[in-house]
Amino acid sequence: MSTDPLPAWAPRQAAVILAMLEATEAGVREGQPADRVLNNLIAGNKKYGSRDRRLIRDAVFSWFRWHGAVGDLPLAKGLCVAWALEAREWPPAFRALMAELSLEVPEIDPELDLAGRKAAVEQALSIDLPAVDQWLPVWWKEQTSHLGDYNDRLAEHFQRPPTWLRVDKDARAELHDKLIEDGAEWAGEASPCAYAFDDAGKVSRWMQAHPGSLEIQDLSSQQVVRICDPQAEQHWWDACCGNGGKSLQILDYADRNVDLTCTDRREEVLSELIRRGRRHGLSKVRRYVLDLLKPDLKFPNVDFHGILVDAPCSGTGTWSRNPDAPWRTEASDIQQGKRRQLKMLDALSPALKSGSVLVYAVCSLCKTESIEVTEEFLAAHPEFSLSPFAHPLTGEATEGSVSLLPGETKGDGMYIAKFVKK
Ligand SMILES: C[S@@+](CC[C@H](N)C(=O)[O-])C[C@H]1O[C@@H](n2cnc3c(N)ncnc32)[C@H](O)[C@@H]1O
Repeated sequence: MSTDPLPAWAPRQAAVILAMLEATEAGVREGQPADRVLNNLIAGNKKYGSRDRRLIRDAVFSWFRWHGAVGDLPLAKGLCVAWALEAREWPPAFRALMAELSLEVPEIDPELDLAGRKAAVEQALSIDLPAVDQWLPVWWKEQTSHLGDYNDRLAEHFQRPPTWLRVDKDARAELHDKLIEDGAEWAGEASPCAYAFDDAGKVSRWMQAHPGSLEIQDLSSQQVVRICDPQAEQHWWDACCGNGGKSLQILDYADRNVDLTCTDRREEVLSELIRRGRRHGLSKVRRYVLDLLKPDLKFPNVDFHGILVDAPCSGTGTWSRNPDAPWRTEASDIQQGKRRQLKMLDALSPALKSGSVLVYAVCSLCKTESIEVTEEFLAAHPEFSLSPFAHPLTGEATEGSVSLLPGETKGDGMYIAKFVKK
């Protein structure tokens, strides 16, 4: 721990951090994502250098990450307690804040689990924090009760995940050794195109250096396409394609020899998909705007082998990347998500012929958006059954659905079900 005298600028930097936190918290309370509020605030203040910006972001996001533990404390104290719970080095701005609050800077062992960190911080700062199982919205415990020990689900949320890159198949041989030399972690033969970095700066340098060979795509997201398993010359429909993360992977997976239709409700994301595709030398994608929830849905005039529905959802599987999200999500959002997801599956079911597959994916681990959707879809559609597949990362047999847990994959939480039409 540093005992250097505090630089004169440290209290000023602390004041800036607090002001940014206050403004971001107000935005989040109105329902805006913290990332967006903070980016606007930082962009409006050109005087901050990249180190200042990084510290501001780290500080604000640490407060949101530990909000369930520190949210009832006054902002400055809550921020310091959050930083202590993070168990990181204490930069001068934080030491200045602690001095203003007449608190000793504690050294917390990062190897401690949540209960251990709670006890250590309580003792060091003479405070009482809420019980660990109160550190996320209460409904989350029930929503993940089918996934084993709740302490594991909680711990996942408080780990900062790495950023995953997907390398195009034909660039992998050339880039593999260079990525490893630069410190990337390779997912291994289980998911050979996936590489992770903890350092965001390295990710952007790699993206700039190899824009035609790499995409940022979470490890769990990459497994969705591997479960689809599109084969050369097949016809596939990515029915919620967004800006094409999985569409590009489908093309790469099937050696660019798949007939792909991409649709989404939003026009702007389709243009982004085309722009990204061009970077990878991909031009042959049929794409158009299609709202799956509109009545009288007109299907593309194609005999599909498979449809992927990467459905809009609560995004609870990405909470550890978006620590403010738990505090913007209500239990009712999960119920609403399920209704929308069931309607989408229902709308798409006639577009498949016998023997074709429908893959349903959500970046959510909530029971309501995963197993309940699967059960209710199958009950309403006896013409479909689950299609067993091997777990894409462990090879274990599944009965046709899987929950990918962040604690196991170091990726986002995701649920994937594969249905086949009888
Ligand atoms: C989870 S995102 C898809 C991400 C994308 N597959 C990827 O890998 O980058 C869900 C997408 O569903 C789209 N969406 C939401 N409601 C829709 C609807 N009613 N019809 C079609 N698409 C919809 C959203 O615009 C969003 O792009």
